[in-house]
Amino acid sequence: MPGVNVAVIVGSNRRDSINRKLARALLRLADGKLAASFVQIDDLPMYNQDLESPLPASVARFKTSVEQAAALLFVSPEHNRSIPAVLKNAVDWGTRPYGRNSWAGKAVAIIGTSPGTVGTAIAQQHLRHVLGDLGALVMGGEAYVTFKPDLIADTGTVTDAGTLKFLQSFIDQYAGLAAHLTTPKASTVAV
Ligand code: FNR
Repeated sequence: MPGVNVAVIVGSNRRDSINRKLARALLRLADGKLAASFVQIDDLPMYNQDLESPLPASVARFKTSVEQAAALLFVSPEHNRSIPAVLKNAVDWGTRPYGRNSWAGKAVAIIGTSPGTVGTAIAQQHLRHVLGDLGALVMGGEAYVTFKPDLIADTGTVTDAGTLKFLQSFIDQYAGLAAHLTTPKASTVAV
């Protein structure tokens, strides 16, 4: 059976992003349980209400990618103890035009990495708050990964045993939650 359809949003527009590297490593660990595609956010214009009609092609494409996915995986750095501007811009476009909120009802997981010990913790809290307010179903628990230059090999293999165990458990939990939230349920209401 194909895995749950997941759109991956990396909150960095840096060419050699360590968060993109982490995203790729996580998807390897998902072992077929997730059918993932990356969503481009670095070509979205800076949000401006004057641009809403007609929607720029990049924004229309972005919203369609999000809306077609059953679940969303955010892998993001932290910028100055908050959500990086490129990601907040994408989140804002996802809510517009008024009445076309692309985030509602999505099964969401949030994770991120930085060289700091608890780097991305506060960005994750901010993102959780914003997406929760927008009606996304955000998996509980914080997941921050301290990045070291050799943590993830070029092949995508995680080299540290403790981090590997943590990431495996994170992605297993998310795949389970996404499958649960996106599988139609038989009614349990007695008639
Ligand atoms: C950072 N960085 C950073 N790291 C962190 O743990 N907490 C923070 O608040 C910040 N703030 C911050 C602001 C700005 C403007 C920059 C450019 C960087 C460092 C950051 O973790 C590092 O640049 C990572 O490499 C970013 O991840 P990507 O872009 O490589 O995925």
